[in-house]
Amino acid sequence: MTKKEMVLTRGTERKAYVKQMFNDIAHRYDFLNHFLSGGVDIYWRKKAVSKLEVQPDDVVLDLACGTGDFALETAAAKNCRVVGTDIASQMLVFGKQKLEKKKHVPKISYINGDGEFLPFKTGSFKGVTIAFGIRNMGDISAALKEMKRILSRKGQAIILEFSLPVNPLFKRLYLFYFKHILPKIGRAVSSDSQAYSYLPASVEKFPAVSEFEGWMSEAGFSRVEHWKLLNGVAVIYRGINEEKS
Ligand SMILES: C[S@@+](CC[C@H](N)C(=O)[O-])C[C@H]1O[C@@H](n2cnc3c(N)ncnc32)[C@H](O)[C@@H]1O
Repeated sequence: MTKKEMVLTRGTERKAYVKQMFNDIAHRYDFLNHFLSGGVDIYWRKKAVSKLEVQPDDVVLDLACGTGDFALETAAAKNCRVVGTDIASQMLVFGKQKLEKKKHVPKISYINGDGEFLPFKTGSFKGVTIAFGIRNMGDISAALKEMKRILSRKGQAIILEFSLPVNPLFKRLYLFYFKHILPKIGRAVSSDSQAYSYLPASVEKFPAVSEFEGWMSEAGFSRVEHWKLLNGVAVIYRGINEEKS
């Protein structure tokens, strides 16, 4: 199946494809992330974590945690405990290696798991975060419902995801870089012929901001709001679970 057909697919077939893809590029993931974004992804994660309101020692789930950059940022900024979950075990291997290199080990643990069927009790986290992960889920609505389910009452979800720029000229320039230059660099460095073409294709397929906020509301989140970053290249979404578990 081509990457175009794959982004149009939903469900278990796509999930298996995405899992394999991240296992294959795990060894190059961090380098390419920072290189292809010019380091701006680091600032975006900090900004997204700043929107999360939790107390020290609260427990936060970082879903689709990958190699753990968002989990590390959350644990450092909020002094809370973080559980990172990802479907691709190789991404977690690199995440665990990064933890071991830290002088002051943050309160982070990693568990291999699927965001659509989270292995946690209802209401067990004060916060749930997901950075550049929701777009990759086989069933986005199912993952949003799971995120809402595992939150305690008044718990918050923070979602950081790519979108498309608002300014038409900037959007044209950006799409040229995103669709024609980025995949070539990604292919050369990661040796994966599809992964960095899948990225722009999946971003173009992802719902616009207002539509995605509607999906969050349908999943049960209240007071849904967003902040655009870099003219809308990325967006931070926040929603609250106001229901009793
Ligand atoms: C672009 S990476 C983001 C990693 C990390 N959050 C970051 O900010 O760098 C997307 C991650 O989503 C994970 N993922 C995709 N589908 C998933 C699922 N159904 N359940 C859990 N993780 C999933 C992938 O394995 C991958 O590590």
